[in-house]
Amino acid sequence: AIDTRKLRADTGYICYDQGYGNTGSCESTITYLDGDNGILRHRGYPIEQLAAHSNYVETAYLVIYGELPNAEQRLKFGKLLRENATVAPQMQKFFDAFPKDAPPMVMLSSMVGALASYHPELATNNFETDLKNFDQSAAVLISKIRTIGAMIYRHQKGLPFIFPKDLPFADNFLHMMFSEPYEDYKIIPEVSHALNLLLLLHADHEQNCSTSTVRMVGSSAANIFTSLSSGIGALSGPLHGGANTAVMQMLQSIHDEGDDGTRFVEAAKQGNKSNRLMGFGHPVYRNYDPRATIIGKACDEVLAKLGIKDPLLDIAKRLEHAALNEDYFISRKLYPNVDFYSGIIMRALGIPTSMFTVIFAIGRAPGQIANWREVASNAKGRIYRPRQIFNGHPQRDYTPMNLR
Ligand code: ACO
Repeated sequence: AIDTRKLRADTGYICYDQGYGNTGSCESTITYLDGDNGILRHRGYPIEQLAAHSNYVETAYLVIYGELPNAEQRLKFGKLLRENATVAPQMQKFFDAFPKDAPPMVMLSSMVGALASYHPELATNNFETDLKNFDQSAAVLISKIRTIGAMIYRHQKGLPFIFPKDLPFADNFLHMMFSEPYEDYKIIPEVSHALNLLLLLHADHEQNCSTSTVRMVGSSAANIFTSLSSGIGALSGPLHGGANTAVMQMLQSIHDEGDDGTRFVEAAKQGNKSNRLMGFGHPVYRNYDPRATIIGKACDEVLAKLGIKDPLLDIAKRLEHAALNEDYFISRKLYPNVDFYSGIIMRALGIPTSMFTVIFAIGRAPGQIANWREVASNAKGRIYRPRQIFNGHPQRDYTPMNLR
């Protein structure tokens, strides 16, 4: 590793690394990612083992606190999440001001930012005091982001909010989304399991765009709510968290056009940014995204268990096969990423496309929280302040209006 600050001090050079693709912006002990070999580990545990044996809440604890919880810690954490599941009645009123068709991630980011004003004791913009209350803040965020997510769905549909019950985390989300005032949603174990898996697979992913945003905002000593709200904004873009929505739109238009996907693959091969094959490629993986392998398999299982035959799954498989046999994709090492199959699972669970990125954001909260804590806890940490390569005008003199 090169100490680029020292390099600059010694030589005056600035390292140009567009988009920080090869810049280590921090030291971290949370997630290990080896993109060349398709390896992802949280706190040392391979994602495949967590997906097979853990659930979302346990993995959230691991990501945030660094160790798998023992029985007592798990119980305490679960209790804290349940106690913090409800959103304050005053904050529920915010939804009156959002149009029904307001972008879901805009609503989520605003609501998470607003949590700072309802928990001023947790959001002092002072690392020391905010860290003292970290356990509470983490529970408020994990639990309430999920509740807000369900409220966004109900608001879109023009339905009354359903309040949380004493249920496991993922089941409570399904309850708040799909129950009716006098009729509880019947939890199907396969659905609950699939939702847990989806959330777990998104729990953290090293210095992705939204997590780095959380770190950058947090480095100014901004509180954890403001920092996560900014991260959610970053996650909303179609090249990041919004890709799962874009994948479904792509699969749906292939289906509606009666095409076999060839047109999309051919268009993507032109290398034009606006015609990319959504759900393919990754800034770090130059191999299969291990989460895509898990999710692709889970997709088959969930659909089979629920007895659903989704033509979009067949299209996705044909598309994957076609792309993986094309020189364009092979030479660029472009493989399906986590978003390629996640939408099909969510569709099978009855979650509309408009909610896909919100689910991603709910899942990603533990990683963002853990990263904020690393920034806040680093006594020697500095504010994030990259440099630039200036390509603009050299100095010139001010021109009065009548001479322009
Ligand atoms: N379809 C077609 N071509 C692609 C695709 C794609 N999905 N992805 C990358 N390429 C091409 C690039 O145009 C580039 O071509 P070139 O060498 O001829 O110029 C080459 O492959 C290498 O691109 P990368 O440098 O690997 O791509 P980058 O790091 O800039 O972008 C990204 C990664 C944004 C994920 C990109 O692959 C993409 O747009 N994929 C589709 C959107 C998507 O699925 N996003 C979710 C990814 S996961 C996340 O949240 C970041």
